[in-house]
Amino acid sequence: MALSGQKILLGVTGSIAAYKAAELVRLLTGAGHEVRVVMTPSARKFIGETTFQALSGRRVLWDQFATGEDQAFAHIELAKSDLAVIAPATAGTIGKMAAGLADNLLLSALLATDCPVIVCPAMNSRMWNHPAVRENVQTLARRGVIMVSPEAGDLACGEQGEGRLADVQRIFQEVDAALAPASSNDFAGRRIIITAGATREPIDSVRYVSNRSSGRMGFAMARAARRRGARVTVIAANCSLEREPGVRCIDVSTSEEMRAALNRELDVNDVLIMSAAVADYKVLPGGTPGKIERKLKNDLKLVPTADIVSSFRKGSDRRLTVGFAAEYGRENMERAREKLKEKNLDMIVFNDVSRSDVGFESEDNEIVIMAPGREDVFVSKTSKFICAERILDQIRELLDVNGTGGAHEEQGKINFGD
Ligand code: PMT
Repeated sequence: MALSGQKILLGVTGSIAAYKAAELVRLLTGAGHEVRVVMTPSARKFIGETTFQALSGRRVLWDQFATGEDQAFAHIELAKSDLAVIAPATAGTIGKMAAGLADNLLLSALLATDCPVIVCPAMNSRMWNHPAVRENVQTLARRGVIMVSPEAGDLACGEQGEGRLADVQRIFQEVDAALAPASSNDFAGRRIIITAGATREPIDSVRYVSNRSSGRMGFAMARAARRRGARVTVIAANCSLEREPGVRCIDVSTSEEMRAALNRELDVNDVLIMSAAVADYKVLPGGTPGKIERKLKNDLKLVPTADIVSSFRKGSDRRLTVGFAAEYGRENMERAREKLKEKNLDMIVFNDVSRSDVGFESEDNEIVIMAPGREDVFVSKTSKFICAERILDQIRELLDVNGTGGAHEEQGKINFGD
């Protein structure tokens, strides 16, 4: 359940989508929050401050150099908000945030704050796909900013593509999710261990076998679990993401190192979540010092790595264990159900890694949560943080029911509705 009465800084920047921020103010104030709207100078060319003032019931701020009594240190006051939402966020504002610039009131407040920040980009699809914007978005995400990706559809310029501000209801949900976990403590007293990222199996000193996992899904799981009161350890394989505050992180590189770290740590944990993409193959002979000559490539052999999660499920371990299934295409969803059984898991999370907008590397995911004897739970495309919240809801239910999971039974099929 979300908190109400939170102080929310709503930053509105210079995009044609600025008018949609008015609806967001209405939803946020309707939910009982105190909304402090800050406009950038260019936002004022798209929408008048009177609209926001009327809807929020508070003076709208925009002038960095205003001298009124209550405005001298406005950026510091604004920085004391419980949450900041930038909607819409232009390419310019995203770039300045990534660079740490503070040439308007909104940017100054964002530099001064340590509250969670949600950024909702809106721009033309060519701008959204520009390498500079992609890099800036990655930089913000690495720093822990929650990105609400734009949607595909008709753009204001008459073109079609990805770049429309996310649906306001979805932004509202992200606000709810960012505020809600702070108020619930349903994992207090639980210890959760989560693997994240991509293992690397070395060929020689400079080459390796690996995959595209960034660690985002695992880190989102860690953030959500910590905010719900769990003591969380992440075993991170080659993740360049900003570390989650309050989460213990053990860095590993190979699948063997991941297995060894789990071996040491697993005992004290109630739940294991395997969101890492463990390389399925390693190279023999592996880790040859130096750089193997090109002409010797035929002497290399690929052999399967040990299946880490299965190895912990043999024997008497009844710790609640959740796997992820990275399948190529929705038509392969039943493979996830097979893995659930083969690996003797309590739960598995299917995601489709053939798509570029979800799965590997992206900010979002679309998942189906499967557990023996339970209805599948479909979570349509949303942030990895919200996916993590829904996975934790299911884990909590399993813990409440029987502490571990259940017998492996046949499952019903999910209806995607298309
Ligand atoms: O990190 P991101 O960029 O955010 O991307 C997230 C993700 C797509 C990597 C993640 O959501 C995901 O799907 N992780 C599991 C990837 C994977 O290895 O899937 P799999 O279907 O090959 O394996 C099934 C399960 O067995 C997984 O829980 C895996 O951790 C585990 N496994 C696999 C191989 C192996 N040798 N040992 C294992 O324990």
